[in-house]
Amino acid sequence: PPFTILVIPGDGIGREVIPAAVAVLQATNLPLQFVEADAGWDCFQRCGDALPHETLDAARAADAVLFGAVASPSYPVAGYRSPIVRLRRELDLYANIRPVFDDPPPGDPRARRVDLAVVRENTEGLYAGRERVEDGGATAIAERVITRRASERIARVAFELARARRAARRADDAPPGRVTIVHKANVLRETCGLFRTIALDVAQAYPDVQADEMLVDACALHLATRPERFDVIVTTNLFGDILSDVACAWGGGLGLAPSANLGERHALFEPVHGAAPDIAGKGIANPLAAIGCAALLLDHLASRASPDTASAIRAWSERIRRAVRHVRAVGPHTPDLGGDAATSETTAAVIAHMLTL
Ligand code: NAI
Ligand code: MG
Repeated sequence: PPFTILVIPGDGIGREVIPAAVAVLQATNLPLQFVEADAGWDCFQRCGDALPHETLDAARAADAVLFGAVASPSYPVAGYRSPIVRLRRELDLYANIRPVFDDPPPGDPRARRVDLAVVRENTEGLYAGRERVEDGGATAIAERVITRRASERIARVAFELARARRAARRADDAPPGRVTIVHKANVLRETCGLFRTIALDVAQAYPDVQADEMLVDACALHLATRPERFDVIVTTNLFGDILSDVACAWGGGLGLAPSANLGERHALFEPVHGAAPDIAGKGIANPLAAIGCAALLLDHLASRASPDTASAIRAWSERIRRAVRHVRAVGPHTPDLGGDAATSETTAAVIAHMLTL
């Protein structure tokens, strides 16, 4: 039976880059069925709900969701809640994963081969929403919540990912996967202490994957200066939010950065960038981040498919990745990469190259 993919373009350039990703997926001829749904600011203005219940139901029923971007107002609007934040919560998408890949041409002295992924816990930590003020507003307090359950499941995601990335590297002499557990347990002894202990426990179940640990401040420095030392990084919510943006400095910037939001039963894929109102409607948005999401989406479907189908799906996700790398290297480039190509030209080039692989 075909896989059902719910497509939510959203606002702004979401409506330009998501159709590009869908076109790439359609060109694979894999058994995929696309359903489209509404969400976002335009949707809120039209129907009074930024995430209509039809959209939420369709997301629950789909095998995967492809999400563009939404333009959230930066001032409070009665009745408006960010649909992406709601979707993450309603679908219990507890793992946020951002892969970063950079393979610059040789000769550039600053060139570094970067191939890493940041795995961020997405439901608790300092973002648990437990904030209050005391002393009549003179003191503000946020509680940091770390649980065994959430730490264990995010650590498993990281070690499984390291294993899958090792398998995808194929060559017998490829280095083993490595998970770096990032925390600040020397100061946050209880919360980071629990996260660290549980992650190191989970590591015991993955003898084929190396595990090491690093304090979050040192990790930020190493990400900025020695990104090639990392494979998979796993960390708590706030640290992961910041470190994943640091990592994004590699990999060609916002126009190229895809992300996955995974839960036990659901999965949603979205470019890291937003609705980009400054370039929306001009047909010049870089589609490579959204197309990168299409590759991540196929990896996810492969993990749910029978062995035969899985290898066919994985072959296509690898072709998409290689085609994205090719177009990134030789063009045609959209203006954010210094070229003058339209979204449609870059997309057509990815599809054309993918079909030669
Ligand atoms: P943004 O990511 O939309 O844009 C930042 C800058 O990067 C802009 O100059 C934009 O033109 C450029 N850019 C982003 N993606 C690009 C692409 N694919 N190709 C070429 N250039 C690209 O972030 P910003 O400006 O902070 O937010 C704009 C709107 O998007 C806001 O309403 C914000 O709330 C929303 N937003 C939504 C997100 C989501 O849906 N997950 C994430 C971030 C922002
Ligand atoms: Mg962020």
